[in-house]
This record gives sequence, C-alpha cells and structure tokens, in this order.
Amino acid sequence: MFGDMNLVTLVLLQIFVTSLCDDLQTSINSHVDTFQQRGAPGLRAPKKLWWAKEITPDFHVAGRLSERQIKYAADGGFKSIVSLFQDDYPSNIGDEYLPTSAEAAEIAKQAGLDYRVILDSDNCDWASAEAVSKMATIVPTLNKPILLHCNRAYTITFVTMLYIANTSRHDQKYIPQVNFEKVYKMAAAMGLDFIMDFTQETAAKITGEAIPENLPEPNVVPDEWYDYWLAHPVYKNWFTAGQIRENQLETLKMAGFIHVVNMRMGVHDENGNPSQEQVTLINVKDGTPTYGNKEIGPRQIPDTLKKLVINPLRNNSFVAENSAVNFESRNPGEFGDEIGYNEDRERQVLEKAGFHYYHMPVLSGGKFSPELFGKYKDKLLEIGRTGEPILVHCASAHRVAYMTVLAAALQYNKDLDWALQRTRELGFVVSPTEHKDVFLMYTAWLRLKNFNSSKDEL
Ligand SMILES: *[C@@H]1O[C@H](CO)[C@@H](O)[C@H](O)[C@H]1NC(C)=O
Ligand SMILES: *[C@@H]1O[C@H](CO)[C@@H](O)[C@H](O)[C@H]1NC(C)=O
Repeated sequence: MFGDMNLVTLVLLQIFVTSLCDDLQTSINSHVDTFQQRGAPGLRAPKKLWWAKEITPDFHVAGRLSERQIKYAADGGFKSIVSLFQDDYPSNIGDEYLPTSAEAAEIAKQAGLDYRVILDSDNCDWASAEAVSKMATIVPTLNKPILLHCNRAYTITFVTMLYIANTSRHDQKYIPQVNFEKVYKMAAAMGLDFIMDFTQETAAKITGEAIPENLPEPNVVPDEWYDYWLAHPVYKNWFTAGQIRENQLETLKMAGFIHVVNMRMGVHDENGNPSQEQVTLINVKDGTPTYGNKEIGPRQIPDTLKKLVINPLRNNSFVAENSAVNFESRNPGEFGDEIGYNEDRERQVLEKAGFHYYHMPVLSGGKFSPELFGKYKDKLLEIGRTGEPILVHCASAHRVAYMTVLAAALQYNKDLDWALQRTRELGFVVSPTEHKDVFLMYTAWLRLKNFNSSKDEL
C-alpha cells in the first residue's frame, strides 16, 4: 500500500519533471548577438589562448602579441597570424617585450605559422574599404584558423567583421551571412563601440546598406576597458579572464580595473590538502595533474614534461635562448613555482600593486550547484554594487564565465533568458541538456530572485 503510493508519487513527479523540462526546452532562448554560436575561448589550448576572441571558427582576434603568445598560438592550433599594422618599433606590456612585425614574423616562422601584415608602415587608415580589400587579398592565401591582431583587439575586430560582411554580400553561400546590423550587434556583444560617423560610413560602403537607426551600443564600464584587451566583457562592470600575468598588472590598473576575483584553487584546499593547479608552459600540453598519479609523475619534473611535449621537432632555442631542452618547465610570470600555479604569490603581488583581491576557489572541472554559487553570492554582489570594474579570473576564463554571468544577472535584475544568451555569447551553451549543472544553478538563483522580488513588491 505504502509502496503503491510511492510509485504513484514517483510517476506523477516524473510526469511533472518531464513536462517541466519540455517546457523549458521549448522556451529556451538560443538567440545570440554574435555571428554564430562561438566555441569556448582558446581553441585546443584554452589555458594558453583564453584571450583570443572568436569572430568565426576561422577568425580570432587579439591585441599586440608577445613572443610567448605567438608560441602559444602555435601550441594551441592556430595556423597563421595576421597583423593589421606594420609595427616598426617594439613595445612592451610591463616588462614583457612586444616584438616588431619583422621580429614577430621570424618567431612565427620558427613556430611553423604563416605571418602577414595588412597595412603598410605609414598607413593608419584602418576603418577603410582599403584595409578590408587588402585583407581580402591576404586571407585566401593563409591556412586557418587565423589569429588576427592590432594593438588592442579593437580596430582589427572592425576590419575582420567588415571583411566577413563584404564576403557574404558577394557570396550568398558564405557562412555566416552578415549585414550592417549584425556587425554592430556583435560589436556590442563584444563590448566594442564603433558608433562613430567614419566607421558607420565605412560599414555603409562595404555592406551597400543605409546606416540603420538605433544601432546597439555596448554596456561596459569603463568604455575603454580594452586597454586591457585580454578581458572578456560580461555586462557593465563585470569582466572575465584566464590567468593574468604579473607584467600585465600595470596595464590592468590603467584600464580601470579595481577588483580582482580569483576562482582558481589555492595552494591548499579547505581540508588542507595540496591543491595547486597548473601553469602554462611553452611546447607542453595542458591538463596533466599537478602532483601526478599512478601513470605519470609530478607535472613539472623533466621526465613528465618530456612525455607532454606538443611538438618533439621543436628546436631548443624555441623555448629560450640557451635552453637545454625544447620545452619549458617553470612559469614565474603567471605566479608559478616549482610545483604549479601558486595562488599565495598572486595574492601578495596583487595586493602590493593596490588591487582589491578576493579568492573564491571553484574546482576546475567540478560540478556547479546552487550551493556553490550561494557560498560567494553576497560577497560578489557587494563588490558588484560598488559599480567599479571587476575582473573575475580562473585559468582559461571557463568556470568564471558561468559564475560571473549569474552574478551580473542578479545584480542587474536580468532573467534566465538573458543569462543563457550572455553565456552563449561568451562561447558556452547552457541548457537542460548541456551543462545541466550550470542550468540548474541558474534556474535556482534566478527563480528565487523573482520570488523574492515579488515578495518585496507585496
Ligand atoms: C568585396 O568582395 C569582392 C568579391 O570578393 C571583392 O571583389 C571586393 O574587392 C571586396 N571589397 C572590399 C572592399 O574588400
Ligand atoms: C636551432 O636553432 C639554431 C639557432 O637559431 C640554429 O642555428 C639551428 O640550425 C637550429 N637547428 C635546427 C635543427 O633547426
């Protein structure tokens, strides 16, 4: 008798849950303002390439690249690099040297990448049909995917989007088909503003369309966040990133970032067990365990690293001038030590540099849950409500994307649809079937919010 009742309850519950899921499934918003559903950032090496922004699977954009970033581009599967400008002078980000175009071409060649420059030295006329048509002559000669860059991933994004708009205008079979409005929607989704007269005029010329009314504008604080171009804008003062480097801190500060939330694991977990994550290393695969396991030794010893080499044919000099091996084994620049990534170091350096630093560890590859977010919710909202720019980072900008979209949604009273759209635009699909744990975390908190706010109104 009791058993029967349980059975009835169970069946009813199942019917209820199934219909709820069906409801959700049909009402799930899969709309994005990006050209297509983007992939998660970083191609085949997300920890190394989290800062490359996907426009389409063939085209990703970036700011001015360091030598390390060019090598990482090769490690992670890019086939070519294109610079919008001819850089005749070196530059720097903190104490990291940024090579000239001639030097970059040499590094790219050693890395096995094609390298090309779009505009001549004296040409700064970037928002021009000329830049687009020069790009059109170069792109078909290159292997893909291509990493295209300028100084702050701003101008190159415009030129690349217009190149795609022009190509789709002349070829109806080209995917994606992109018009004037789509260019501006995607720009807004990427936190970039091209609402100047001269950019709109170039867009009109390329697309053959009249300038639309009420073009979408980005919602980002500060407007010029892309002085630190590596960040991913989420909404208003919320941004995500992968592992930041010590040499980038000055730039990060000058771009206006005040708060840094770190969601990587600390040196020890809450039970006192060692829990260091990994650093990125030139010509070494990501992702083997920091402390090793039965099959493989601790990650940063030579025997293990030898087994993790990406390209065994690389010259030793590819790693560093007097390197005795063709792989890197330490990365102090991203707060690494002899074992792996060291969160204590990052805290010390960031606090000394004047940032408001918060550690909110989330296990890499772990499950998301309403409780996990609940642990950090109040602190995140307290920081968010200052209205000051916040960079939430982990290793590859993946786990933080889920957490940050939800924090922004709660702070700015956005609904589930908004959260799902924003997450998709960042390259992550969340639905009742994909990343279901995140979906349940979102529904729990965003429904609770509705419930609370209707109570408040009563
Ligand atoms: C647009 O594409 C057409 C066809 O490929 C090409 O002939 C033309 O030069 C392109 N225009 C620009 C501005 O790139
Ligand atoms: C390795 O690099 C050095 C210095 O750039 C060069 O002289 C040498 O020929 C290279 N060796 C190979 C096998 O490519």
